[in-house]
Amino acid sequence: MSTYPKIIQGGMGAGVSNWRLARAVSTHGQLGVVSGTALDQIFARRLQDGDPDGNMRRGLDRFPFPRMAERIWKSYFVSGGKPPGGPYKTLPMQAKSSPRELQELCIAANFVEVFLAREGHAAPVGINYLEKVQIPHLPSLYGAMLAGVAYVLMGAGIPVRIPGVLDSLTHHQPASYPLQVTGAQEGDDTTMTFIPHDFMEHDLLPLNRPKFLAIIASNILAATMVKRANGRVDGFVVEGPTAGGHNAPPRGKLQLNPAGEPIYGERDKVDLVKLRELGLPFWLAAEYGSPEKVREALADGATGVQVGTPFAFCVESGLAQDYRQTILASVASGTVEVLTDPLASPTHFPFKIVQMEGSLSEYEVYSSRRRICDLGYLREAYRTPEGAIGYRCAAEPVATYVAKGGDLENTVGRKCLCNALLANIGLPQVRSDGRVENGLITAGNGLVEIARFLPANGWDYSAADVVRALLDGHVTDSLAIHPIDSAGATVSGEALMPV
Ligand SMILES: Cc1cc2nc3c(=O)[nH]c(=O)nc-3n(C[C@H](O)[C@H](O)[C@H](O)COP(=O)(O)O)c2cc1C
Repeated sequence: MSTYPKIIQGGMGAGVSNWRLARAVSTHGQLGVVSGTALDQIFARRLQDGDPDGNMRRGLDRFPFPRMAERIWKSYFVSGGKPPGGPYKTLPMQAKSSPRELQELCIAANFVEVFLAREGHAAPVGINYLEKVQIPHLPSLYGAMLAGVAYVLMGAGIPVRIPGVLDSLTHHQPASYPLQVTGAQEGDDTTMTFIPHDFMEHDLLPLNRPKFLAIIASNILAATMVKRANGRVDGFVVEGPTAGGHNAPPRGKLQLNPAGEPIYGERDKVDLVKLRELGLPFWLAAEYGSPEKVREALADGATGVQVGTPFAFCVESGLAQDYRQTILASVASGTVEVLTDPLASPTHFPFKIVQMEGSLSEYEVYSSRRRICDLGYLREAYRTPEGAIGYRCAAEPVATYVAKGGDLENTVGRKCLCNALLANIGLPQVRSDGRVENGLITAGNGLVEIARFLPANGWDYSAADVVRALLDGHVTDSLAIHPIDSAGATVSGEALMPV
């Protein structure tokens, strides 16, 4: 019998699939996945908001390195929360040699997110990263693994070197990852290295090696992963171009429809017969949020489906309440619109955007925002004329980007996703002139379909409602199967005991 989940709740960054959502899905017998993107910032901002429910503190109390936990607490916790009109602290930006403070924050933040998602039940929990956001990978994965993460899912790039990283970190061994540096020359040092023993406060037993699922949009990428990965790939998520978030660009020359969206064709479809020949389990994603589509996926040989959009708007989602309610209202009235913007994301991948008043989807809101780059997750590393590594983002101030050798043309229509995505989850930066960063919501083309989950007499539905609906009412409640106390179930047992 397969031990794999039928439904994977897709990772949704930043902070949309937070620990609450993932926990809710996992406790109902399916795979809950937290987003690992920008968790260092999210964690630091939650602490600056005073950690009102004490969840971050509870997670830090179970972190295996207490001195590191205390350093972080002292640096970021603000009792009672920062003043509402005041700014969050500006953290240093991630760079090839990030300051130790930032690496510690990554380890602890990833630990706490997975710890909380696992608390009180014994079902597996996964974590999702975007390959393109490379710099935080190593400390982030280590933190998530310390908390016993069972699956790592990664897309938006070609993560052939991640399986080997997981193997090394399992044994607390040094791990390295190649940083993609535009213009790099032979002999340049572009390798990032992370040495767990530099951070460990005592020895630990080996950790569980999580399963690795690569998110792919083509047969070529799936075959490349199998052939070139430096360790075991456990399966694939096959994501079509109607999925929420970033999409793989169409193959061939970019053509746009009258609304300015990329046009996808037959060549962009994954051949499932060929995929099956690779012999690994796979899950289908993009508009699979109904029992009929789940049945269709299973009939196509998939192990199950990965679903994002229906979970993004359920009550446990990390989306700010006002954004969520506004969008649910437009879903209910049938007026909601999602467009695929080929320019918005500095990653150059098409990005799905919900058209919403007051958000950066509106030209006036976008154009009145002063460009500023102070989070920097989507920056591109490039070789400077002196042979060093510089960082630039196509959404940063145009003159700065061009001075760094970036093409002016590249800056057109780019949006600061980093600041917008944090605003989406209620953690917006406040600028010195009092302006508050606006959000930019992403969702899949199937957004209108989530009306099916809305009850006749209200606005809210839960993650359990989605799971139940997708499985035709057959929900396994893992809390009922594994009634264990929260302390016992939280981390990978004795792995965290000093040895
Ligand atoms: C709000 C939102 C954010 C997303 N962020 C990510 C992400 O950070 N990483 C990722 O691999 N996929 C991301 N996705 C894609 C989902 O994981 C999932 O594959 C997709 O939503 C499935 O298609 P659907 O939207 O039609 O359900 C995101 C989707 C949504 C709706």
